[in-house]
Amino acid sequence: MSKAFKRTLITSALPYANGPVHIGHLAGVYIPADIYARYLRLKGEEVLFIGGSDEHGVPIALKAKAEGITPQEVVDKFHYIIKKSFEEFGITFDIYSRTTSPTHHKTASEFFKKLYDKGEFLEKTSEQYYDPTAKQFLADRYITGKCPHCANLNAYGDQCESCGTSLSPLDLIDPKSAISGSVPVLKETKHWYLPLDKHEPWLKQWILEEHKEWKPNVYGQCKSWLDMGLQPRAVSRDLEWGVPVPIEGAQGKVLYVWFDAPIGYISNTIEHSPNDWEKWWKDEASKIVCFIGKDNIVFHCIVFPSMLKAEGSYTLPENVPANEFLNLEGDKISTSRNWAVWLHEYLEEFPDKQDVLRYVLTANAPETKDNDFTWKDFQARNNNELVAILGNFVNRAMVLTHKYFEGKVPACTTLNDYDKQTLQEVANVKLNLEKQLNQYRFREALKEAMSLARIGNKYLADTEPWKLAKTDMERTATVMNISLQITANLAIAFEPFLPFSSTKIKQLLNKQQGLQWANLGAPYLLEVGHCINEPVLLFEKIEDETIATQVQKLQDKKEANAALSHQTTPQKPNIAFDDFSKLDIRVGKVIDCQKVPKADKLLQFKIDDGVGERTIVSGIAEHYAPADMIGRNVCFVANLEARKLRGIESQGMILSAEDADGKLVLIEPISEVKAGSQVI
Ligand code: MF3
Ligand code: ZN
Repeated sequence: MSKAFKRTLITSALPYANGPVHIGHLAGVYIPADIYARYLRLKGEEVLFIGGSDEHGVPIALKAKAEGITPQEVVDKFHYIIKKSFEEFGITFDIYSRTTSPTHHKTASEFFKKLYDKGEFLEKTSEQYYDPTAKQFLADRYITGKCPHCANLNAYGDQCESCGTSLSPLDLIDPKSAISGSVPVLKETKHWYLPLDKHEPWLKQWILEEHKEWKPNVYGQCKSWLDMGLQPRAVSRDLEWGVPVPIEGAQGKVLYVWFDAPIGYISNTIEHSPNDWEKWWKDEASKIVCFIGKDNIVFHCIVFPSMLKAEGSYTLPENVPANEFLNLEGDKISTSRNWAVWLHEYLEEFPDKQDVLRYVLTANAPETKDNDFTWKDFQARNNNELVAILGNFVNRAMVLTHKYFEGKVPACTTLNDYDKQTLQEVANVKLNLEKQLNQYRFREALKEAMSLARIGNKYLADTEPWKLAKTDMERTATVMNISLQITANLAIAFEPFLPFSSTKIKQLLNKQQGLQWANLGAPYLLEVGHCINEPVLLFEKIEDETIATQVQKLQDKKEANAALSHQTTPQKPNIAFDDFSKLDIRVGKVIDCQKVPKADKLLQFKIDDGVGERTIVSGIAEHYAPADMIGRNVCFVANLEARKLRGIESQGMILSAEDADGKLVLIEPISEVKAGSQVI
């Protein structure tokens, strides 16, 4: 399928503006897309690279509600944080806009209207949950109830996060509206559906027959969707936040976020080039490549193409090089659990080290399977690869040139066989690199670029110019000339991957012009006599302490998460005040305390309860030594029916608090109070 294209439109998934972006976003989508965009530009091709924030959808509306602010305020906050992080990491979008922009609303609205007018939708009325108090239909996420599988009381209408089962709102036992808490009722509502079943035949032909070259993970997922058979999908929702459905009688309905978001690629193109945007979308000679994460595959390979096809005048994506997921230290990255390395935090903690992260995330990209980011690997790749291979070579080339040739590119006189062989290896890199980049294999491509630095190091190690300089200056000059030419080549080869370092190499070499992709592999990039600048290190070693700090930070997050998930264990159902007054809780003084024989957890207390003595058995032996208990004031339930534990009659229950890790802490009045006092 190698068609000749005139230009390339690169799109990257529009991140939801309900939180900042993290390393998973960068590794999965934005770094590969940026490498590809930079590579094509360096080759002098016509490229448009589209980014933007996805600002609609239920989670954003929910977040706003939870925080008591408007959805617009939520997205305003995160849009700019996200945009800034991308800029600082050198992601070269030609435009980074947002789906709340007027252009987007107009474009998405017109797109829907056109499909509607063409009769491309099914109109269906169905029963959905409605909140009679809030007077609105409830999105699946807005309904909570008991999970029919695991009895978790806080399952959502689309999924139970406790057991992971996907649910439909009708599956929930005792459903409740997350908005008002009231019991929802079923009510009829009308929606528009894209009949994907109707599109199935051409989709099968287009993907399964004509795009066998798509990445196996993408092709495989599409195939399994198509094999299962496609169903009509609703493209509207009963919701306030979003692009209003532009037809009469659709008050209170908006376009489904997954209908409007991919149209964002089109609206952002229009915003960028209002006069000639169509050439990117409606000319067969334009190649459209969509960079996304694996959870977006069905929308980009099946739903969006069906929308484009139904519209009729658009070109379909040529490729959708989706990545799998990046995990963090063995666990799934999660915005809600705060299990992530946030880009804005990284930038603060590792200033000027954007390329280190770009390098690690590319070298370790989840291209064919999920992958793991660990701080140890981050350190190892920095120290053993960036510092020891790339940085080391460039630095030696610079330092030796200053030492022997006063910082001027020396003349290359006669080449021996070894020089020729080395230059041949340098020349070969270009083809290998292109081959990998053209197939969206960025990890392999990065290895190819690195091989250039390895060639350089080996060349210096084998020729030993520091020894040659004692006897043969002419030969030394040739060796240093070649080393500097390799350095200049490194600036080109690494430009797509490590743009900041590439710029630094160009500054070191005092060479800004003539380093295009076409020149990659050439042995004459620097002229004889050209003055280079003073050497400065490209990368620095990352110490163990720095890594330990990051690991500790994650550990703290893990503990905070555990505490949080404990705190949020579902609250028990409400009780009436009368029920509460039935409890008789009192203060008692511990007179005696013993371990219960053969029971690891039990302590036997003798307590002065104000009127006499009573025995209570309590399961806190793992947390307190009996001797430390004597004389303490404790709180206990006085009117609990007596029960026998290990043959001992326990006349009540001593109260303690349990923390996130299951540690028990006795409840004690904060000052002395008479035994028998009631706790009210
Ligand atoms: N916001 C979606 C996500 O983060 C991606 C939307 S991609 C788009 O999963 F193209 F549809 F916008
Ligand atoms: Zn469940």
